[in-house]
Amino acid sequence: MSKRRLMFLGPPGAGKGTQAQRLADDLGIPQISTGDMLREARRKGSELGRKAGEFMDAGELVPDSVVIGIVKERLEEADAQNGFILDGFPRTVAQAEALAAMGVELEGVVNIRVSQAEVLRRLGGRLTCPGCGASYHEEFSPPNVAGICDKCGGELVRRPDDQPDAIRQRLESYQAKTAPLIAFYDRLGSLIDVDGEGAPSLVETRIREAVD
Ligand code: AP5
Repeated sequence: MSKRRLMFLGPPGAGKGTQAQRLADDLGIPQISTGDMLREARRKGSELGRKAGEFMDAGELVPDSVVIGIVKERLEEADAQNGFILDGFPRTVAQAEALAAMGVELEGVVNIRVSQAEVLRRLGGRLTCPGCGASYHEEFSPPNVAGICDKCGGELVRRPDDQPDAIRQRLESYQAKTAPLIAFYDRLGSLIDVDGEGAPSLVETRIREAVD
C-alpha cells in the first residue's frame, strides 16, 4: 500500500477533506490540502496568507502561480516521498499540467459526486477548528461538546467562506474552472467516480473499495 499518489476532487463541501483525512490516516501517508495550507498561512500573517485571504473570503480561486509554488515545496518534503493524498489541488487545468510537469503521475483521482442541495446542507452546518483544522457538522458529525474541538479543545468557528454569497461564488468557480478536470483525468484513465451521498462511514467504505 505504500507510494500511493491519490487526489480528491469534488465541489465545495463534497467531503474531500473529511474523506482524505480518513484515508490518509489509514494508509499512513500525508493529506495535502491546499485550503488548509492557505488558511495556515493566513493564521501566521504571512504576505502569501494576506494575499490569498482576499480571494478565499470572496469564494474565488487563489492565482495558480501562488498555489503551484506552495504545492511544489510541500511535495519535496520527506513525508511526501512515500505517497500522499492531494485534497483540493489541482483545481484548474493549468494546475494539473503543472503537477504533471513536476513529474507527479496520479494513480487515482477520486471524484466525489454530491448534489448541490447536499453541498448547501453540508456547508451551512460546518464548524471548523482554527487551531488544528478539524471539521465538524452541527447535525451530521457534531463534536462531543458543543462548540469545542474533540481533538485539541479549541473553540469551533464558521469559515468566512461558508457565508451564502461566498458559497455561491465557490460553486461558480468550481463549475467554470475545476469541473473540466473531470474530463481531463478521465482522458488519462485515472478518474474514479464515487457517490458522495450518505453517511461519512458509507462514503468511506465506497472510497476504500474503489482505491484498493
Ligand atoms: P478548500 O478548503 O479546499 O475548500 P473547498 O474545496 O471549497 O472544500 P471544502 O473544504 O469546503 O469542502 P470539502 O469537500 O473538503 O468538505 P468537508 O469534508 O469539509 O479551499 C478553500 C479556498 O481556498 C478556495 O475557495 C480557494 O479560494 C482556495 N484554494 C484552495 N485550494 C486551491 C487551489 N488548488 N487553487 C486555487 N485556490 C485554492 O465537508 C463539508 C461539511 O460536510 C463538514 O461539516 C463535514 O463534517 C460534512 N460532511 C462531510 N461528509 C459528510 C457526509 N457524508 N454526510 C454528511 N455531512 C458530511
